[in-house]
Amino acid sequence: MAYTVPKLTDYSQAALERASAELISALGQETSAVKNEADWKALRDRWMARKNGVLTQINDLWLKGAPKSAKREVGQLVNSVIIPQVETAIRERHDHIKGVAILKTARANGLDAAIDAARRGAELSAALDITLPGIRRPIGAEHPVLRTSREIVAVFQKLGYSVADGPVIETDYYNFEALNFPPNHPARDTQDTLFIAGQQAKPPRERLLLRTHTSPVQIRTMEKMRPPIRIVIPGTVHRNDPPDASHSPMFHQIEGLAVDTNITFGDLKGTLDHAMKEFFGSSVKTSFRPSFFPFTEPSAEMFVSCFICGGSGRRGSDNAPCRPCKQTGWIEILGCGMVDPNVFEFVKDNGYDPKKVSGFAFGMGADRIALLKYGVEDLQLFFQGDVRFLQQFA
Ligand code: DAH
Repeated sequence: MAYTVPKLTDYSQAALERASAELISALGQETSAVKNEADWKALRDRWMARKNGVLTQINDLWLKGAPKSAKREVGQLVNSVIIPQVETAIRERHDHIKGVAILKTARANGLDAAIDAARRGAELSAALDITLPGIRRPIGAEHPVLRTSREIVAVFQKLGYSVADGPVIETDYYNFEALNFPPNHPARDTQDTLFIAGQQAKPPRERLLLRTHTSPVQIRTMEKMRPPIRIVIPGTVHRNDPPDASHSPMFHQIEGLAVDTNITFGDLKGTLDHAMKEFFGSSVKTSFRPSFFPFTEPSAEMFVSCFICGGSGRRGSDNAPCRPCKQTGWIEILGCGMVDPNVFEFVKDNGYDPKKVSGFAFGMGADRIALLKYGVEDLQLFFQGDVRFLQQFA
């Protein structure tokens, strides 16, 4: 039975996919049945005639009938998928039947005539119009998380920091021990570590795991470079957290480390306050509250005044409660502190004598910052690769 364009009532993605699959399958059957020029003309008219051709019907029944919310998607489906496929299939069938006709002549008349005919055929299909516009391939966009990470890194690069990196599959030594998390210390529990299987035969410090933070690159860099150093370390990290609107088993951090003689907590505050003003705008304020990390002493969490409500805890003309800062006016952005002397002990032989040098470190989550900056409600959107979401950042 010949294909007829159905009226669409269901505009869900599944229904659209089903309808276009049926159409493309009908197209395949009808084109392969075309054997000569007359058949082909009939096929072309049936599919492409302005008046009542299949494509015109698609336009009327699918696109014009689409509810507002589905218009954009149906438009893209019709214009970027269906129309090009129909046009290509019909054009290629024409090339095919012309080729078959040429071969027939060749068989009937012997080789010379065949070459002649083939040449004529080639000339025919070489009626190439170079003034037609080319095929435009859409340019991709930088992922919002990587963009955020790059922008933050750039702020520190302007201050003279260089970029360092290290492996995502790390040893227990770099991820924990050299950062002053002793074996079996409860601070390890906060890191929800994903361990690589089958490591029991190795000494504990050599066992492999997925790094839970970018901090191990502090040690790796200090092993390679003598002080003074100023580095930022962007990278992916993993934790055993089930995915939800604010958690992901894989996410992104940016670490920072500055070591020199006479680095003080004042340097830490001044540097981070400047960086936040560069990144979020000069009106944000910063606030430091005591915290604990094994590798820094003292440790702090840094908050910035809420860049969404301006610090008032309320938004808009109706004074709605500000959700991102939970009406506190402050948003927690990173952990930081002065490098613990115990950490320097592990790299002492490379010039990091805790009696001579001091430093500060900090670490922040790029995904969380991107979430806040772009007002995205669900962290999972960053990892699903849905073009309709990502396109908004193009
Ligand atoms: N590594 C910490 C975490 O993932 C974040 C952090 C806190 C990094 C304080 C630092 C720091 O360098 O000084 O939870």
